[in-house]
Amino acid sequence: MTRDEFLKVLGLGAVATASMFCFGGCSSDSPAAPQNVDFTIDISQSSYATLQNIGGFIIKDGVIIAHIESGEYIALSAACTHEGTIINYNSGQNLFVCPAHGSEFNTDGTVAKNPANKSLTKYNVTVTGNSIRVYS
Ligand code: FES
Repeated sequence: MTRDEFLKVLGLGAVATASMFCFGGCSSDSPAAPQNVDFTIDISQSSYATLQNIGGFIIKDGVIIAHIESGEYIALSAACTHEGTIINYNSGQNLFVCPAHGSEFNTDGTVAKNPANKSLTKYNVTVTGNSIRVYS
């Protein structure tokens, strides 16, 4: 008996089949990335001053913003897609790193190292003087 025949016998359809593919590989604990993001921060304010330095990063409204090169900032969803731990930015490796189980993400949000297997959401960034706008 094939798996499809087995599922038909049990009366289970495509939903059951799809959910079976997630056993061991998908996490229901991973929070959804923030949607409709649109905020502006002023890096001259003390709470955001770390972004004045290359390698500095902050977390705001579920988004991690990192200063990766002179005048270049990256904004990604801050919750690891594995189980939702808030990630950090490692300037030495130019990677976003999860402290929980070691997943790593590239600056475009794609997975560089498992166990996470889903990309982070990348947001748009516009820099005007000391103002950094982050938006979907
Ligand atoms: S929660 Fe990030 S690697 Fe597990």
